[in-house]
Amino acid sequence: MKFIPLPFAVLGCSLFLFTIEANAASQTQIDRGEYLARIGDCTGCHTTEDGQSFAGGLGIDSPFGTIYSSNITPDKQTGIGNYSRDDFAAALREGSLPDGTHLYPAMPYTAYAKVTDEDIDALYAYFMEGVEPVDNEPEKTDLSFPFNQRWGIGLWDWMFATADTYEPNPDQSEQYNRGAYLVEGLGHCGSCHTPRGLFFQQKAYGAGDDHFLTGQTLGVWYAPNLRGGGEGDQGLQGWSEKDIANYLATGRNVHSGVVGEMISVVQHSLSHLKDEDLTSIAVYLKSLPRSTEAPSDDEAPSVQDKTDENKDTSATLASAKVDIDSGERLYLDNCNACHFTNGKGASWVFPALKGNSLVVAENPDGLLHVILAGAQMPSTPKAPAKLAMPGFGWRLSDKEVADLATFVRSGWGNDGDSVTADQVAEVRKGIPEKVLRDSAPNMVKE
Ligand code: HEC
Ligand code: HEC
Ligand code: HEC
Repeated sequence: MKFIPLPFAVLGCSLFLFTIEANAASQTQIDRGEYLARIGDCTGCHTTEDGQSFAGGLGIDSPFGTIYSSNITPDKQTGIGNYSRDDFAAALREGSLPDGTHLYPAMPYTAYAKVTDEDIDALYAYFMEGVEPVDNEPEKTDLSFPFNQRWGIGLWDWMFATADTYEPNPDQSEQYNRGAYLVEGLGHCGSCHTPRGLFFQQKAYGAGDDHFLTGQTLGVWYAPNLRGGGEGDQGLQGWSEKDIANYLATGRNVHSGVVGEMISVVQHSLSHLKDEDLTSIAVYLKSLPRSTEAPSDDEAPSVQDKTDENKDTSATLASAKVDIDSGERLYLDNCNACHFTNGKGASWVFPALKGNSLVVAENPDGLLHVILAGAQMPSTPKAPAKLAMPGFGWRLSDKEVADLATFVRSGWGNDGDSVTADQVAEVRKGIPEKVLRDSAPNMVKE
């Protein structure tokens, strides 16, 4: 056996320890980056349904045409393998690439602008070392003039992209600041929940502005007002912090079940967050006062406390009179089994229709889509069951769906406007025949 002189042994040992230390630190950073990528929902836009993780090519609809996401794996030819840390930071926070190209704001850099240097470092470590390189050249985005003039985005950025790294508000709690950082920054909740202006710019990027998170319509879906503060029971005002955290973690809670564009957000992003982060988000949302200024507050009708009317609706439905109107009858025949005569559904399983943001939204398209094509909750780690509602488009006429929707929008104290058969026909046209057929209950499927 060879004798190692003591000083060398010590040096060898500490070198050994040092290497372990260095690797361990960077693994922690890669893991942190992976978690941050979940919060930013990078996969939601950069992975196609059957494509490899982060290889890009998902088409994102915009009012100007389809924009295809980039390959953000560390592949050197088709991905971002040649990006330095600063190139990566500029793409994320400013939407600009090393060759001077401006990204379309379909990539939410206007929100990511709030991300701290430390988090950028971790994300960079993850994308360079924790993600498999994939050789994939996504389809090129080809918008019509003038939207194909990418230099125009530079001008747009100059006018509208105003956000800077998030500065904690010293008057608020640590929890609030964490929530604000996540919602306004990486979580980019405002990209769907904040109304857009004339130039498609988000009207606000943070808590300081009354327009922030006051809701907006996205295609057929309505992304509701998320300002949960103040007195009242409009939307999140009627939800506790725990209700909000539960919804984000599982797509369901005692009031509601997720549908539409929000399904993917819950499935790919929010259901993977730590409880303390979800609670921080809830604390922040509950702190935002319901704004009176924001125009979309009128657009998002409320449920007034009309206890008497509420009783009336339930009583009429329960009385089984023969002369009830067509909407009520259709409700009893088709919906009552799950959502009940009181419209309160069953906690965690069947959403309440009374006071539901989707049901009373100014634009009824989301409601009509659910009645026609049904809905399915996502499977999440904490609530794996994919509870589903069958669609009714295969058996109810446009007129019947209109009567039904009018009834649920006005029953139990809801105050949504009535719906016409033409509106139903319009939504039906946008749903592929196969989706309507497949949404029918199992027993009628061939
Ligand atoms: C809402 C959709 C969306 C989300 C979420 C999103 N991206 Fe993107 N991203 C895009 C689109 C679309 C493009 C391409 C835009 C273009 O061609 O102008 C893009 C481009 C990029 C680019 C530029 C790459 C290149 O060279 O073309 C990088 C880097 C990037 N995204 C990283 C990320 C990271 C990291 C996350 C998560 C923190 C993320 N993106 C989340 C939609 C998204
Ligand atoms: C891609 C668009 C999109 C993004 C991004 C998004 N949401 Fe949503 N969100 C929606 C839509 C659409 C709905 C309506 C879902 C429904 O009616 O079931 C919704 C519903 C919600 C609800 C339920 C509100 C209610 O009154 O029923 C909450 C809470 C919520 N979102 C929170 C968030 C948070 C927090 C973020 C950011 C971390 C976020 N959302 C990001 C589209 C989005
Ligand atoms: C077999 C049980 C069942 C029947 C019958 C049923 N639903 Fe549902 N409904 C559900 C489930 C489960 C969900 C949650 C699905 C989700 O969140 O993706 C749901 C969701 C909804 C939603 C969306 C709620 C939200 O918070 O986003 C509306 C609106 C709705 N149902 C209305 C109706 C109407 C109107 C009828 C009658 C035409 C009906 N349902 C019949 C089970 C049912």
